[in-house]
Amino acid sequence: MTITEAHPSLSSRLKHETAAQHERMHGLMDAAKPFASREGYARFVAAQYLFQRDIEHLFADPAVRAAVPDIDGRGRAAASQADLADLSWSVPEGDIASRGVAMPEALGWLYVSEGSTLGAAFLFKAAKEELGLSAEFGARNLAAYPEGRAIAWRNFVAALDSDAVPAHTHDAVIAGANAAYDRFGQLLADMFETA
Ligand code: HEM
Repeated sequence: MTITEAHPSLSSRLKHETAAQHERMHGLMDAAKPFASREGYARFVAAQYLFQRDIEHLFADPAVRAAVPDIDGRGRAAASQADLADLSWSVPEGDIASRGVAMPEALGWLYVSEGSTLGAAFLFKAAKEELGLSAEFGARNLAAYPEGRAIAWRNFVAALDSDAVPAHTHDAVIAGANAAYDRFGQLLADMFETA
């Protein structure tokens, strides 16, 4: 613990230094009420689809692949697209926002996407209970990875906190996480026209 306090790990810095952004997402989700109707939920999935496309765009970068060896099992763009089809909602178009994003900022983008799979446990429950959706219909994008949320997250945190991500790059990773939160916030605002 003393060591953590003296030299906070990257995962700890990300959690604490982007906490206000996470709180902001809660506010946006509360305002959007995505579980009030299937139409509202489809708007959320459309935002998720565009965000996941931004995330998966980063997977091709060899430096990202080196930093996160199990990257190929991550990402939920295809799941989001299938959910949109289930919901009879058109797949949104738009530019990829992560073009030009590279390591170390890319790791911050991945942090936001991977971390969101933890909160997604609550969203998944709401999608099932309030909208009658499931991991096979409409709520694939919120389902856990096959290995389970906790293990996938633990492996990602190990990649964040590995010596392969040197301390002098940590500020840039946090900047990347802030940019990714900004992107998701903007997508929610666009989809729900609440900006
Ligand atoms: C109403 C919507 C949301 C709820 C209820 C929620 C809830 C949660 C909860 C409970 C955790 C902690 C889980 C744990 O420690 O086991 C968490 C973590 C996280 N969530 Fe959310 N979340 C929401 C939306 C989002 C969104 C929209 C994003 C990003 C696009 C996001 C990104 C994250 C990240 C990055 C973490 C990891 C924090 C860390 O430990 O470093 N969340 N969320």
